[in-house]
Amino acid sequence: MSDAIRVLRDAPLQLRNTFGVAATAPLLAEVRDAAALPDLLAHPGFAGQAPLVLGGGSNLLFAADPQMPLVALTGQDVRIVRDEGDVAIVRADAGVQWHGFVMHMLGQGLAGLENLALIPGTVGAAPIQNIGAYGVEVREFVHAVEAYEPATGRTHRLDAASCAFAYRDSVFKHQPDRYIVTAVEFALPRTPSLKLDYAGIGDEIAAMGIASPTPLDVAQAVIAIRRRKLPDPAVLGNAGSFFKNPIVPVALAEALHAQHPTMPVFRGNDADTRKLSAAWFIDACGWKGHRDGDAGVAPSHALVLVNHANASGTQLLDLARRIADSVHTRFGVPIEPEPRIIGAHW
Ligand code: EPU
Repeated sequence: MSDAIRVLRDAPLQLRNTFGVAATAPLLAEVRDAAALPDLLAHPGFAGQAPLVLGGGSNLLFAADPQMPLVALTGQDVRIVRDEGDVAIVRADAGVQWHGFVMHMLGQGLAGLENLALIPGTVGAAPIQNIGAYGVEVREFVHAVEAYEPATGRTHRLDAASCAFAYRDSVFKHQPDRYIVTAVEFALPRTPSLKLDYAGIGDEIAAMGIASPTPLDVAQAVIAIRRRKLPDPAVLGNAGSFFKNPIVPVALAEALHAQHPTMPVFRGNDADTRKLSAAWFIDACGWKGHRDGDAGVAPSHALVLVNHANASGTQLLDLARRIADSVHTRFGVPIEPEPRIIGAHW
């Protein structure tokens, strides 16, 4: 096998998922160069099975040991592939850590990703769920996604339109086993156009005493807000928001808002829909800070499930189901998990 590949048997996964849930992978391959994927996927144990691609493990819940082989892409190449003056096209390997990439780009004078600072995970995972925070989604800066298709052995370069991005959604989420994202190209502007209006960013910058913020100042404000609101997975196991914000028809949003005037309502995917706040629903049902053994809800944010020490994936999933049931019973709104669940169905 190519020396770009390292295969581990019975690999412990507890340190490879940010929930810190114990699980074991029968086979896990670390792949330094995506060009070695065809070689790897021809080998016994990998051939004929769709592998699970492990990024930063920040959007996964292991409810059981995975039965499929795992692949972790570890390539770290980042480079400007085309410079158009005001916009640079930057290509980064899937295995690059997201936050380090954002800060590196800002250091090069390339803007756009500042509101997405401190999101855990890798570059390769970013387009899969179209990561978003503080009024920005990564799709706004994705130029193309390189992906390997194990079933056909073909390498694809999908432009942004072919990725079918939507709120926490893309073609890669719809067909989770079809592609292995191997690299992402971003189109990043040199002249920033800052988004300061969402969720206290402007207030945070004012409190920092900054009158004319740079993209780096915005990243620092985002980092400060996230550190306050969201538990650090290195300290308290979690996968960020466990539930997606529900997108509902305008009529339902208006009816609920009439009954609950404090309920936040955001714009949806189009004129006929609105996005509601899963955190607000969960909070209203009294779950914030709740704890069942080691499975709990973060005291600082109702959307974040936490592993206090040794919760199993099944215990976290059970808590998540009870939360979703209570929200559905009280408000009539289904909420769905954001992370990929391995070994169980939602
Ligand atoms: N709220 C509550 N209780 C809480 C927390 C929030 O009632 O415990 C209500 C508040 O009214 C608040 C509203 O929910 O105004 C929205 O809260 P927040 O600004 O924290 O945003 P969110 O909708 O809960 C989303 C993303 C986060 C992202 C933030 C900031 C999703 C599923 N989550 O959370 O992303 O950081 O916006 O933009 O869209 C993640 O995906 O892992 C993640 C952390």
